[in-house]
Amino acid sequence: MAESIPRKPVTVPDILARKRDGVPVVMITAYDATFARLIDACDVDIVLVGDSLGMVMQGHEHTLEVTVDHMIYHARCVRRALRCAHLTVDMPFMSYQASPDLAVTNAGRLIKEGGAASVKLEGGAQVLPAIERIVAAGIPVMGHLGLTPQSVHAFGGFKVQARDAQAAERLRNEAAQLEQAGCFSIVLEGIPAALATEVSASLSIPTIGIGAGNGCDGQVLVMQDLLGLDDSFKPKFVKRYATLADPVRDAFSAFAAEVRSRAFPGPEHSFASKNSPVAAAPDPDPNDHAEPPRRAGYGPR
Ligand code: KIV
Repeated sequence: MAESIPRKPVTVPDILARKRDGVPVVMITAYDATFARLIDACDVDIVLVGDSLGMVMQGHEHTLEVTVDHMIYHARCVRRALRCAHLTVDMPFMSYQASPDLAVTNAGRLIKEGGAASVKLEGGAQVLPAIERIVAAGIPVMGHLGLTPQSVHAFGGFKVQARDAQAAERLRNEAAQLEQAGCFSIVLEGIPAALATEVSASLSIPTIGIGAGNGCDGQVLVMQDLLGLDDSFKPKFVKRYATLADPVRDAFSAFAAEVRSRAFPGPEHSFASKNSPVAAAPDPDPNDHAEPPRRAGYGPR
C-alpha cells in the first residue's frame, strides 16, 4: 500500500514550481468554512475567495457591489478551515483602480484582516502601478486578464474577449507586463483557447484558465458551478462534476414533509429529562467520535 505523504501548506514558490515541473495548478473558489474544509481535504492547490461571491452568495447579477469588508468577512470564514491550500483573495471593484496607494492599503487589509496569502486583481496595463506597489510591499499578486468581470459594463456583458488580432496582441503584451510587474500567476478568463495556450507557453509564471481551453497551466471553476448547485446556470465553459441541485432540493422537501407529518424528530433525535416518561433513544456517547467534533452538539451533560 502506498504510504500517504503528509501534505504541507501550498506556497507561492510551490505554485511557481508547478509550472517548471509541468504539473497543472488546481484552483476552486470557496466562500465559507464548510466548503473550504471539503476542498482543502482534496489536494487542491489554491482556494480563491472570488468576488464572484457577489453573484453566488449575495445574489447580484455582477460583482460590482462587493466591498473590501465583504471580502474580508468571507476570507476569514475560509481561512479558519484551510490547512494546506493556498488562500488567494480577490480585490473587489474600486479597491485598487483609483491609486496604487489605495491598492496597497486594501491588499494589506486582505492579508492582515482576511488571512489571505495572496491577492488577485483584474486588468492589464492600467493596473501595473498598483501591482508593482503591492508586490513591493511583499504581497504576492495573481493577475487576471481577458473577460474580467469587473469590466462587465465596458464589455457590454459577459462576452468572450480578445477574439480579434488587435485585442489578442494587447492581451499577449499585457500578460508579459504582468509577469514583469511581479505577478506569480495569471487567471485567463473567457478568451480563445489557442491564444491562452500561446500566452501560457510564453510566460514563466503559471496561467490558470477559466473558459480559456486546455492549454493553460491550471484551471479554476466557481464551486457552485462545479457542483451543479444552480441548475439555471450552465455556460459552455463549465463542467459539472456533480448535479447537486436536485438532491439538495429533495433533502429540503423531505425535511419539510417530515416536519409537517411529525415524522421528524423521532425518539432517536430527542432528549429525555431525568425520570421522564417521554420516550427517547439512549443518548450517544459524547466520546464516540472518530475525530473531535467541529461543532459542539448538545449531548448529555
Ligand atoms: O471571482 C471569481 O470567482 C474569479 C474566478 C472565476 C477566477 O475571479
